[in-house]
Amino acid sequence: MVSKTIPVDDFDLVIFGGTGDLASRKILPGLFRRMVAGQMPRTAKIIGAARSPYDRKGYQEHVRKSLEEFVPKEKRAAKDVKDFLNCLDYVELDVFTPDGWKQMAKMMRKGAVRAFYFSVGPSLFGTIANSLVKYKVADEHSRVVVEKPFGHDLDSAKVLNAELAECFTEDQIYRIDHYLGKETVQNLMAIRFGNALFEPLWNNHHVDHVQITAAESLSVAGRGSYYDQSGAMRDMVQNHLMQLLCLTAMEPPSMFEANAVRDEKLKVIKALQPVSQKDVVRGQYSAGDGEDDYITHSENPSSKTESYVAMKVDVANWRWAGTPFYLRTGKRLRHRMSEIAIVFKDPPHSIFEQDFKEMRGNVLVIRLQPDEGIKMRVTIKDPGPGGMRLREVPLDMSFAETLGEDVKDLPDAYERLIMDVIRGNQTLFMRGDEAEAAWAWVDPIVKGWEELNTKPLPYDARSSGPDDAMMLMHRDGRRWRDISK
Ligand code: NDP
Ligand code: BG6
Repeated sequence: MVSKTIPVDDFDLVIFGGTGDLASRKILPGLFRRMVAGQMPRTAKIIGAARSPYDRKGYQEHVRKSLEEFVPKEKRAAKDVKDFLNCLDYVELDVFTPDGWKQMAKMMRKGAVRAFYFSVGPSLFGTIANSLVKYKVADEHSRVVVEKPFGHDLDSAKVLNAELAECFTEDQIYRIDHYLGKETVQNLMAIRFGNALFEPLWNNHHVDHVQITAAESLSVAGRGSYYDQSGAMRDMVQNHLMQLLCLTAMEPPSMFEANAVRDEKLKVIKALQPVSQKDVVRGQYSAGDGEDDYITHSENPSSKTESYVAMKVDVANWRWAGTPFYLRTGKRLRHRMSEIAIVFKDPPHSIFEQDFKEMRGNVLVIRLQPDEGIKMRVTIKDPGPGGMRLREVPLDMSFAETLGEDVKDLPDAYERLIMDVIRGNQTLFMRGDEAEAAWAWVDPIVKGWEELNTKPLPYDARSSGPDDAMMLMHRDGRRWRDISK
């Protein structure tokens, strides 16, 4: 059995920034895969928009090259490539000038879903939104998709929200956080709310602490100048890690519906306690064995930007008071590994002779990448004679092994999210108030660093991060899980 694909309605999708890196690497190859999978109709129209002087043919050639680079050869049948390129068109325009918009309006078809993907820097969002309305390219049913970063701080996020709200209603705006499109992130909700087993244990009576890790082996090479203005806190914590925290900590929504889910996530963000500086560790990678350091990659010799953050976060509500959430993320770490680990409390009393101090509590690990799956660490009897000896084993459900064909060729996060836009489903997108609340919580932490004006702690490239991050856990009698493949 292969996974089910439900085709979406016919659509016109304009990609502002259709010549850029994100469009070439993710959006267009993703749409191609959806077409091949039978989800995107071959009659759909995809219109690239940017300043580069292409005509339709030139843009088709540009996209052909992107497909050659980012879709493996065996997945690129000539007929499929031809059909996909046939869906493409192009409008040359500088969004700050009046030219090109009327041409774009004429390309829109009546009766097709109309979506506009803003795959450009946030400083262009307001202008594009205005022109889409002014030149009647968009109608009242159109959807707009906006990329991260959604602002730089609370004030800039408010400005972006206001600019978009002048032209579109909230149910037309899709703020992308691609972590929400990852298969296992949605599985977290299935595990929690589709099984009666876990929910009674999902609280401070039974959970000792939660660890959320998004470790990357990549450096910031190639995007140093963007990254140096951002840092790990704004680039990863304010969005991806906070979304993971929200989905882990939220109350059960009354139904799996966009506003019901987003209301519950917002309540979590509002329950987050301010974080004191002693509960945050920032790091910056230094040169490892034959490795460049952060400064070389960022091309800023005096940079004080963090490429690593670890922090202890308290959620002040009845479910979680007293059960901390530890978050960490960083570049150029030992391995690429993202997971959520729910660490349960130890059994209250040992009836066995063996000293239970050696045994650790149960852990439920929801692994996002690589090797997506769910694992539970349990204690069992060591097999064989010799009395009652205990040992820990993982109950392992690697999706690839357990589900076989069903998880082959699953859509990646971007593919899934774009199809949700066409379907009009906002459940996996951030609402404006959520984005603002997340910035309101992050801003004081960043401001604190700016006031202290200290350099982040160094950590070796390809290590597990700064020693102080280990101490953050050790001082509470806990330890981070290994960053392993
Ligand atoms: P690029 O710099 O590669 O692309 C920017 C695009 O915008 C180009 O197509 C450029 O085309 C177009 N553009 C710039 N100015 C104008 C203008 N005045 N009028 C019309 N078009 C214009 O950026 P990315 O593709 O990397 O990123 C796009 C957005 O997505 C950014 O906000 C980024 O933060 C976000 N993002 C990117 C990720 C990635 O992996 N790349 C990941 C997550 C988010 P031209 O020069 O032809 O006009
Ligand atoms: C992006 C960040 O949003 O997410 C990048 O801007 C980061 O810095 C990336 O590398 C991580 O995404 P993934 O899916 O590779 O974990």
